Parts: sequence; structure tokens; C-alpha cells
Amino acid sequence: MGQAINCIGILTSGGDAPGMNAALRSVTRSAIFNKIRVKAIYRGYLGLMTGEIKEFHTEDVSNIIQRGGTILKSARSEEFITAEGMAKAYENLKKEAIDALVVIGGDGSLHGANMLSRAHNIPIVGIPATIDNDLYGTDLTIGYDTALNTIVDAVDKIRDTANSHERLFFIEVMGRDAGFLALNSALAAGAEAAIIPERETHLNQLRELIHNGFRKSKNSSIVLVSESDTTGGATGLAEKLRTEYPEFDIRVSILGHIQRGGSPTAFDRIIASRMGVAAIDALMDGLRNIMIGVVDNKITHVSLTKAVNLNKPVAEELIGVQQILSI
Ligand code: F6P
Repeated sequence: MGQAINCIGILTSGGDAPGMNAALRSVTRSAIFNKIRVKAIYRGYLGLMTGEIKEFHTEDVSNIIQRGGTILKSARSEEFITAEGMAKAYENLKKEAIDALVVIGGDGSLHGANMLSRAHNIPIVGIPATIDNDLYGTDLTIGYDTALNTIVDAVDKIRDTANSHERLFFIEVMGRDAGFLALNSALAAGAEAAIIPERETHLNQLRELIHNGFRKSKNSSIVLVSESDTTGGATGLAEKLRTEYPEFDIRVSILGHIQRGGSPTAFDRIIASRMGVAAIDALMDGLRNIMIGVVDNKITHVSLTKAVNLNKPVAEELIGVQQILSI
């Protein structure tokens, strides 16, 4: 056992993700269940530096499990990762008698958490919440499943137009520098190809695929493209092929922030609830500076350093399945 935890701080940071509220609810209720006080910090690290902090009781997290976004608000703060920024944050933690911090967020937010824990020796537990699913040490991040379903729903709708007008669509999805959303939505929506940053884009293969598809059985094609400088995005790719194939009716659709919104799926609510309870359990067991993960449907712990520094690869098997099924 480590030192006793009487009061935790909790914040959401970085890009909002559906299920962040479910995780906040779970951490809050589980802490209170274990007689630990909860102080909610608004606007992520920004609010930690400015002292926007309020004690939460069980009723403060009522009626939020189904809500997208984050009721705590979120922010991306450049100042926080400076020595001065972290010192301000530390002062507020001391002032509020917060013994440990739970950070709900993605790669950048957990990177900030790791820096703070090292600079000021604060026990921190991270809960992975990002639609990008790009954190090492967990099969899934909160929000990813909801975003994936939103994308698939959008692609199904776009396919109606693609079919009716016999068009070739390049649909760009988020993911920052990770291809999980593009690859898995391509699989689930039956797209002809997925262009992801983890794989060099072989224009020739794409040309062949499109050519064969249009010439043979298919009268429309859908290509899912990850946003990223590596892929060139949907617009860049479409431009390249448009000049080459003037006979094809090419359209681009960039799904944008619609992917981050909406009510979380049951799956995201469940992993958020499990991870929230696991975060409090971990703190009570004396674990420090770790991220909660779910691997093979079991709760796991990984050091924050590994979670933010190691690379999570996309599964080669999925790439293979997508390619086989797109003939
Ligand atoms: O990390 C989540 C994410 O939605 C990425 O997929 C995307 O690249 C980025 O955030 C967009 O950030 P913002 O909303 O700040 O433009």
C-alpha cells in the first residue's frame, strides 16, 4: 500500500471523446463509494493552473452517462507543459488538498500527466479517452467505438449517392497519425480501400483497384483515407487521381468533428465505467503513474511513460482481411 488517498482531483483534457462523462461518473462514484473525496477540475490543465476546481458529490454526475463531450469542458494548454505551468498546477493541488489526480484524455493529455507526476511527484492515473485509439497498452480507448459507428453510418449514407451516381468517393476520417479509424471503418462499411499512415500508399495498387472495380462489377467505389500528412488526406489523393482518370466522377467528403460527437455507444459506456472503477482501485492499491487499459477484455495497467512513448501498431491481419474482401 502507498500513502493514503483521501481526496482525488479529476479532469478531462485534449480532444473530447464520447464516454468521457461516463468515465467521470464512474471515477466519482467509485471514489465516494470508497470514502475518497472528489474535486472536479474544469477546462483540463488550464483549470488546474487557474484553480477552477469544485467538489463533486454523487448527484453531480447524475444523468451524464449518455452524454457526449465532457461536462468538465476540455482544453489544450501549451502553458501547462512549461515548468511555470506545472508549478502553478502543483500549487493548486496542494491548496485543494488533492492527494492524487485522475486524468481522462488522449496521448497529449497523458503525456502532460506523465510530466507533472515526474516533476512534482504526484500520484496520477490516466484513463485513455480519445477517438484515435492510438495509445499503447490498451486494445481500446474510450470514444473510439462511438466514432467508428458514426463513421460507418456516414459511409453507408454516402454509398447511396456513390451508387446512384456511379461515383468514386474519397472519405477522410480523423485519427491524427493513426489509421485505426480508417482501417476499421473501411472494413465495417465494406469500402474498396483504406489509406492509412502506417502503410505507404501504393498509388499503383489504388489505381488498379479502382480501374478493375469500375471496369468489372462495381459502378462505384469508396476509399477511406486517414487525415495525415503521410497520406496526403482525401483532397490530396483525389487531386492525384482526378487528372489521371478524367472519366471518373470523383468526390471528396471530409467527415470532420461529427466523428467526435454524439451519445456514447453501450460499449464505450461499459469500458468507461470499468476503467473508472479500476482507476480508483489502482490508487487504493498504491499504484502510481500508470494508465488503465483493456487488453483481451481484461483490465490492465501500463506505465504512463510506456503508454505515451510506445507505438501501437495496427493489426496486419485486419489489413489483409480488408484487402481480400475489397476485390
Ligand atoms: O485527437 C482527437 C482528434 O479528433 C484527432 O483525430 C484530430 O486530428 C484532432 O483531435 C483535431 O483536433 P481539434 O479539434 O483541436 O482540431
